[in-house]
Amino acid sequence: MSQPIWIGLLGLGTVGSGTLRILENRAQEIARHLGRVVKVKRILVRDRQKPRAVPVAPELLTTNPADILADPEIKIVVELIGGIEPAFSYIKQALHAGKNVVTANKDLIAGHGGELLPLAAEKGLDFEFEASVAGGIPIIRPLKVCLAGNKIEEVKGIINGTTNFILTKMTREGSDFAAVLQAAQALGYAEADPTADVEGLDAARKLAILASIAFNTRITLDDVFVEGITKITARDIEYARQMGYTIKLLGIAKEQDGRVEVRVHPAMISANHPLAAVNDVFNAIFVKGDAVGETMFYGRGAGELPTGSAVVGDIIDVARNIIDGNTGRLACTCYYEKPVKPIGQIETKFYLRLLVLEKPGVLAAIAGIFGQEGVSLQTVIQPHQVGDEAEIVLVTHQVKEINLQNALRCLEQLPIVKAISNVVRVEQG
Ligand code: NAP
Ligand code: HSE
Repeated sequence: MSQPIWIGLLGLGTVGSGTLRILENRAQEIARHLGRVVKVKRILVRDRQKPRAVPVAPELLTTNPADILADPEIKIVVELIGGIEPAFSYIKQALHAGKNVVTANKDLIAGHGGELLPLAAEKGLDFEFEASVAGGIPIIRPLKVCLAGNKIEEVKGIINGTTNFILTKMTREGSDFAAVLQAAQALGYAEADPTADVEGLDAARKLAILASIAFNTRITLDDVFVEGITKITARDIEYARQMGYTIKLLGIAKEQDGRVEVRVHPAMISANHPLAAVNDVFNAIFVKGDAVGETMFYGRGAGELPTGSAVVGDIIDVARNIIDGNTGRLACTCYYEKPVKPIGQIETKFYLRLLVLEKPGVLAAIAGIFGQEGVSLQTVIQPHQVGDEAEIVLVTHQVKEINLQNALRCLEQLPIVKAISNVVRVEQG
C-alpha cells in the first residue's frame, strides 16, 4: 500500500470521538476497501489538557488551526466543531487550500451551503455532509444518488430526537411538557438550553437541507415555517388518541405545481402511519418519489457512534474519489429556483381545542363563523364541562391556513369563546 490518505479533524467532542473510534476500529477493513490507509494526522481542539472520551496520542492534538489547514499532506478536513464561526472560515480556508471537506454541521449547511457547495465545485473538491441530517441515518446520499431517477414529491419526517423523546414520554405517561422536559434534561437527553430543539429550529435546519436536495432548489432556514412543541399539552395528546391520532414534531416538505412548501410543526398523524411508531430518540424520514413510491429511513439521529458512522462513510467516499482522481463529482444540485409557498396558502386539516360558555346556541355561533370563512368542519366533540364553561374539540376538513386564521380572529371576538386553547395541524396520508 502506498502513502496514507491523511485527514485533519477539527473537533474531538461527541462526534469527533465517534469518528476517531470508528476510524481506528475499522482501520484494516477501510484500508482493504480502498487499497490505501486512511489516517488522522492532527486534531484541532480548544483545550489540549481536557480528558478525552477516546484514547488519542497527545501529539495529535493541536490548538493551532494552521497545523491542519496549511498542511499540504492533509487531503480531507473533517469539521466537527459545530456552529457558524470559526467553522465557516476554517472550511473556506480548507477549500481554498485544495482540501476536501466532510462536515456534520447542519447550521452551516442550512445557512451557508449556497456559498460552500459552489466553492467546492469550482475547486473540483468533495464537500460531503451526510451526518448533518438525522445523524446515523443515510438520507443525503440516498436522495442525491439512489433516488436520483425520481421526481421527489414529498419528504416528511421526525428529524429531532429530543422532541420525539419528549412527545413519546408525554404520550406514554400522560405528563405535561414542562415536567417531561425537566426529566429529559436530568437524563441528558435534552440540552440545558433546549430552545433550538423544542422550538423546532434544529429540525427546520435539517428540513432546509433535505428540501434543497429533494427539490433541487436552495431552501434556507428563513424559508421554513417553524413552530415548536411547547404548547402541546397532555390533553391534546389524549384527544388525539381518542380520535386515532398521534402527535409528532414533523418536518414536512412537498412540491406541487413547481412550488415548494417547507414547514416544521407538531402534527397529528394517523396512529397507523409508520411515523407514528417512531418513538423515543429515534428519527425517521419518509420519502415519496414518482418512481419508487413510498420509502422510509429509520435510525438514530444523534450520538457518538451513529453520527460518527455517517462521517466515516463520507470520509471513505471522499478517499475513494481522491484515489480515483474524481473529487467534486457529487456537486451542488440546486439548479432551479422554485418559489416557496407562504404558510397561509398551505392546505391542511386542523384540530382546535376551545373553551366556551356552556349555553344554548354556542355551537351554532361557532359553526356560523367557520362557514362564513369557508372552513368546513369534519368532527365536533364536547368532551368536558366545568361549571358554566365547556371544552370543545373540532377537526376541520382540508382548508387553506389563511381561512382558518381568519376564522380564529373572528372567534376571538366572540364573548362566548373564553379561550382558543390550542390549534394543531392534522397531517393526511
Ligand atoms: P461537541 O461535543 O461540543 O464538540 C465540539 C468540539 O469542537 C470539541 O472538541 C471542541 O474542543 C472543539 N471546538 C469547539 N470550538 C472550537 C474552536 N473555536 N477551536 C477549536 N476547537 C473547537 O460537539 P458535537 O456534539 O460533537 O457536534 C459537532 C457537530 O456535529 C455539530 O455541527 C453538530 O451539530 C453535529 N452533530 C452532532 C450530533 C450529536 O449527536 N452530538 C449529531 C448530528 C450532528 P474541546 O473539546 O477542546 O472543547
Ligand atoms: N439535538 C438534535 C436532536 C441532535 O435532538 O435530534 C443533533 O442534531
